[in-house]
Amino acid sequence: IPVDPFDLVIFGGTGDLARRKIFPGLYRRFVDGQVPDGCRIVGAARSEMDHAAFREFVGAALAEFIGDSQVPDQVAAFLDIIFYCPIDAKGTSGWADLKALMRDGPVRAFYFSVAPALFGDLAERLHDHGIATPESRIVVEKPFGKNLATAKALNATLAAHFNEAQIYRIDHYLGKETVQNLMAVRFANILFEPLWNSQFVDHVQITVSETVGVGGRGGYYDTSGAMRDMVQNHLMQLLCLIAMEPPNKFEPDAVRDEKLKVIRALDPVAASEIVRGQYRGPKGHTYLDEVENPESGTESYIALKVHVSNWRWKGTPFYLRTGKKLRGRASEIAIMFKEPPHSIFGEGEGWKQNVLVIRLQPDEGMNLRVMIKEPGPGGMRLKDVPLDMSFAEALGADVIIPDAYERLIMDVIRGNQTLFMRGDEVEAAWAWTDPIIQGWRARGDMPAGYDPGTSGPEDALMLLHRDGRRWREIA
Ligand code: BG6
Repeated sequence: IPVDPFDLVIFGGTGDLARRKIFPGLYRRFVDGQVPDGCRIVGAARSEMDHAAFREFVGAALAEFIGDSQVPDQVAAFLDIIFYCPIDAKGTSGWADLKALMRDGPVRAFYFSVAPALFGDLAERLHDHGIATPESRIVVEKPFGKNLATAKALNATLAAHFNEAQIYRIDHYLGKETVQNLMAVRFANILFEPLWNSQFVDHVQITVSETVGVGGRGGYYDTSGAMRDMVQNHLMQLLCLIAMEPPNKFEPDAVRDEKLKVIRALDPVAASEIVRGQYRGPKGHTYLDEVENPESGTESYIALKVHVSNWRWKGTPFYLRTGKKLRGRASEIAIMFKEPPHSIFGEGEGWKQNVLVIRLQPDEGMNLRVMIKEPGPGGMRLKDVPLDMSFAEALGADVIIPDAYERLIMDVIRGNQTLFMRGDEVEAAWAWTDPIIQGWRARGDMPAGYDPGTSGPEDALMLLHRDGRRWREIA
């Protein structure tokens, strides 16, 4: 889809996200011809620097994160459209210069890749200096608040200067190719949707397993924990896309209305259905060492059993788990189907349940496990085999799966909000999350320890065992 020329300003342009994701993503779109002539990309941050120095900074980021696949001529052409503007987010300096860099005509988008505490200041100054036009868009990164009250306050702050159609709240999971594929699988095929309910689905597992620890982000992470950092947003979005009713169109509000209904149908979660963990490696490598807080009760792992109380899902639990320093890096959604109502083959034939796995990463793809007859003369012995589709294999090894940020930034420019969270959605997600966190705080629950490189705390296994189920193995 063609893109109109745009001016994109990245506040926090010298930050980690800009370096790792935003500039490399924009470069790839540029190479693909989606950044037309006449676009301008402006980094804005506190440091004093001129355009040339910033171009060097961006060039270094491309070298680091795109590496070998850079094309020197393309890099040079891309750097030509990069500008820099030193700015004081809370003061007055820099704003007139930023205004001077904007042209009449192109779409304007402002990416707030900064601490949420600055969102209000940026919004106000963009407005007061006449830099934001009624057609301008703003992009805000997570965390969007840390509870319902702060999310509401943030929404109100942004709403003072921008209307909802101008605000793009990023959840980068929605930009992941396979996450969008989930909608294609459900709504572009007749095969699955008739079975997509509590009559046929026994339960659903959503796993986002990471091998990294909290690394250099300890300060932020310790005030957040896995519940706020991952479940309230990324896992919640995955749950919504699985559980939602078919929207009548693939259009922003139609999709977001359906997701909102799911969030509002979530039951409160009982203490017995939550398992929290914290990694305890050898001395110097424990979670507590990394966040430099020996008393911390923040979880680096969480598993939850979630009930969606509506007609479609009553009785089908959704088990969610995510954690850091686990055995493998793997994110997947598994739809675990029920047993056939009657077995014509009798007992002990080796029946296993049908499973549809949607792999987000690594090796994006889908896998459906079905029962077949084991070959050979030994009678009717059943075996489950995979109908496996790796997207890379099915679509050709050179298929390029774009990074989530690339897709999302271009959607901002095109003015398509389908893959962004609406204000009421974020608030509903916090309204469900808050009592869960308040609950464990009030009870004084502490997370259980787990060894790095394992699949998390033992109790998480029990969460399913006692329901006669088990987690899928994660490599
Ligand atoms: C971020 C979280 O939103 O998502 C991080 O703040 C987490 O803690 C990351 O590591 C995971 O993203 P991805 O795309 O690597 O699965």
